[in-house]
Formats: sequence, structure tokens, C-alpha cells
Amino acid sequence: MRIGVVGAGYVGLTSAVCLAERGHATVCVDVDAQRVRTLTAGEAPIDEPGLPQLLASTLRDGTLRFSGRFEDLAECEVVFVCVPTPSRPDGSADITAVDAAVGQLNRTLHPGAVVVMKSTVPVGTTRMVIDRLHGTGISAVSNPEFLRESHAIYDFRHPDRILIGAADDRAADVLQTVYGVGDTEVLRMSPESAELAKYASNAFLAVKISYANSLAQLCSRVGADVADVARCMGADVRIGKHFLQPGPGWGGSCLPKDTAALLDTGRRNGVELAEVASARDTNLGQADRIVAALSQSMAGPLATARIAAFGLTFKAGTCDVRDSPALFISDRLASLGAQVSGYDPRLAMIDQDTLRRSSIGAVDDAYLAAKAADAIVVFTEWPEFRDLDWFRIAGQAPAAVVLDTRNLLDPTEIRHAGLRYLGNGKVPGF
Ligand code: NAD
Ligand code: UGA
Repeated sequence: MRIGVVGAGYVGLTSAVCLAERGHATVCVDVDAQRVRTLTAGEAPIDEPGLPQLLASTLRDGTLRFSGRFEDLAECEVVFVCVPTPSRPDGSADITAVDAAVGQLNRTLHPGAVVVMKSTVPVGTTRMVIDRLHGTGISAVSNPEFLRESHAIYDFRHPDRILIGAADDRAADVLQTVYGVGDTEVLRMSPESAELAKYASNAFLAVKISYANSLAQLCSRVGADVADVARCMGADVRIGKHFLQPGPGWGGSCLPKDTAALLDTGRRNGVELAEVASARDTNLGQADRIVAALSQSMAGPLATARIAAFGLTFKAGTCDVRDSPALFISDRLASLGAQVSGYDPRLAMIDQDTLRRSSIGAVDDAYLAAKAADAIVVFTEWPEFRDLDWFRIAGQAPAAVVLDTRNLLDPTEIRHAGLRYLGNGKVPGF
């Protein structure tokens, strides 16, 4: 089929290369001219396993091309809208980019075309788009995306489910044909249910992690081990073992903004969603937990401390620092007077503007970041941190306490190197 994709970010680019790989003639349009040039040259602007290879092969085969012009989508039968829907200051989702894209598609596409809303949009958005396209012969359906950054290509190829929210069976059938779904469960429902199901899923993941973080705090106080508690909970299939890992808090470009947007939808409709609000409070409180743990465990005051932040991205496997707990908590530490130096294995690929706006002095060497540190905080679960020479680090920062928010390191090895170790939800821990 002739496929269009609007937005060449994590979702759009992944969708475009995977659809092109399946043989669909795919055109991906983005308003960022530099990004279009980079992609046309075969360079992946984001760090996703398998992406460079797929980009190269689909460009070579001619099944994929990039453009800055919406006119190049004119002949497309199906167009996926994958543009950002960031938070406004009041928490609501800003759908300006979706509106702009739909306006362009309205002017460009032929009757019979299907516009697919892959961006995460508030309930009612797809229905608004359907109304806007009324009389043009162009249909619109909701098809929320569930991919995870750092597993984007894998998730596109092996989705748990494909969600189609449609008011129009023909449009839903066309979309199902594009996916050619095989064994994957296809869930069809109204656009409103599909839109809400996406927010509900992300918010549930956030609630689950916040619960794990609260339990971790309790574990360290009562002498329990959160890994054992989570192991038992996860063995119950009704609970499931995923998303029970404590950490510095959940971040990234989606869970924070989507929980805020869901609360906003609740507020507008007189529903409180207290569980989601509480999960967000717990998440914000992670900074206080870490500040308190450092204040209690370091030899000197936080106001004059040197702190090394190990890991700056919001999770391992990505160079994305959007809404990263590492940056948020480091900024808090700096606001209390600490000097924070940060290291990340993907430093070179991290957005430098965001780093410059933070209070972190970033260095491309873990040993340099840790030099003379009073504390080393492991924020991101990069496996590389396990392989560092902890004896060398102890030699350069003999008084440092290691606060391992991800329970990544081997406590015995850290202690053996001569450093104090605190795990998250462990004894000793915080
Ligand atoms: P992104 O920021 O990585 O990329 C968005 C791209 O859209 C950018 O390249 C930008 O230049 C382009 N763009 C912006 N406005 C445009 C316009 N009017 N026309 C054409 N291009 C435009 O965003 P993303 O992470 O891919 O997220 C896109 C949407 O998908 C959001 O609604 C997000 O919530 C949702 N989502 C994201 C993920 C994820 O893991 N990142 C997963 C599921 C759903
Ligand atoms: C999340 C969802 O997992 C995807 O299904 C969804 O499509 C996407 O949001 C979206 O809508 O954009 P992603 O943002 O890539 O994907 O990140 P996750 O892997 O969900 O992690 C989110 C945050 O939770 C990270 O900061 C991570 O470190 C943290 N986390 C995750 C924990 O602290 N503990 C866990 O057990 C799991």
C-alpha cells in the first residue's frame, strides 16, 4: 500500500521503517528540515537497536523516503499521525501539532484515504478529527502506540495488542490490512475507548512503579528486601512481575505527561482518579527521599557535597533525557548547594541543550565524575556501571557513599572496594 507517516520521532520513524520493511511504499514527512536531511542521508537521529540497519535497507530498496512537504503524501491511502502531544502547564495535552498535521492532510489527501491517530491524544480528539474531515471522503481512526523506547523496533514487530478505535468499519479494515496482523490480538472499539485505554495503560504502569517505590521505602525501614517482596508479588499472575522495580522515579517523554493529561480529563469530567494523583505525588517525593538518604549517610553537609550522578537518561538503552529523574533530582541537589558532576555512557548522543540547562557538570568519564565525590548516585540501570573498576573509584573517592537507586550493583563488591553501599528498599538502604 502507499503509506504516509507524519512526524519522524520515536514513534513515526519506527513505524515508517517497519512499514517500509514490509514492502509498503512509505513517505515520512517532518517539519524539521534538518531531521529530514539527516534521515535522507541514512543517519538515525535517535538511538534504537536495529534502527540504523532498517533505515539503510529501506532507503536502499526505495520503499522509504523522507520529505518536508505534505504534498508528497497526496497519493497515500493511509497516513499515520505521530507528532508530539506535550503537556501544557496545567497538565492538559497540547494537540497543536496534531491539529496542524490534520489541517495539512485535509488539504492534501484524496477521498478514501484513512488518517490514523497514533499520537497519544485526549479522549474526543479522533472524533473531532472525524467531524473536521466530514464531507471530504477521508476517514480517521485512533490507533494508539504502545512501544517502549530502546525496544521500539522489537515492539513494533511483536506488539502485545493492536488497538483500533474506529467509528467506521471500512477504515478499521484498511488499517488492519496495513498491519497484516498474524497472531497478534486486534482490539477494536470506539475511538473514545481506544484513546482512554492508552492513557489508562500508561497510568497503570506509573501506579505500579510508584507502589514499588513506596514499598521499597518501607522495606528499608522494617528490614525487608524489596526484591524478595516484588518476587513474591510478581509470581501471582494477577499482579505480574513487570514494572515492580524500584528506582529514582518514573520519567521519560510519556508516563509523566500522560498521567497529567489523564488527571486533566478526569478533572474536566468530575472524576478524581486519586490513584493516579497519588502515584504522581509519590514520584515527585522520590527527590526528597534521595535528598534525605544522602543527608543522613554522607560525612559532611549536602550544601558543600560533591555528588557524582551515574546515568543521566531516564532509563537504560536510550539517549533520551526528556523528564529524566536523574536531571530533576540532580537539579534539586544542586539547589541545596551540592556540586553535581554527571556521567552517562551515551553522553555524546544526549541532547546537549537539555544538559546545559541542567545544573550538572557532565563529563565523559565515570572515574572523573566520581573523583573526590562524597556520594555516587546510580540513577540509570546501565549494565556498564557493574563493570567499572570500583577499587579505582574508591581510591579517588574514599569517603563516598554509593546510593544505588536501581539496585544495579553488587553490594559485596562495592563494600569490598571499601565504599559504603545503600540499596533502594534494602538493608542497609533507603
Ligand atoms: P518525538 O518528539 O520523538 O517526534 C515527533 C516528531 O514530529 C519530531 O521529529 C517533530 O519534528 C515532528 N513534528 C512536530 N510537529 C509536526 C507537524 N506538525 N508535522 C510534521 N511533523 C511534526 O515524539 P514521539 O516520542 O515519537 O511521540 C509522538 C507521539 O507518540 C506522542 O503523542 C507520544 O505521546 C506518543 N507515543 C510516544 C512513545 C515513545 O515511546 N516515545 C510511545 C507511544 C506513544
Ligand atoms: C512507556 C510505556 O512502557 C510504553 O508502553 C508506552 O508506549 C510509552 O511509555 C509511551 O506511551 O510513550 P517508555 O516511556 O519508553 O514507555 O518507558 P518505560 O520502559 O515504560 O519506563 C518508564 C519509566 O519507568 C522509566 O523512567 C523507567 O526507568 C521507569 N521504570 C520502569 C521503573 O522505575 N521501574 C520499573 O519496573 C519499570
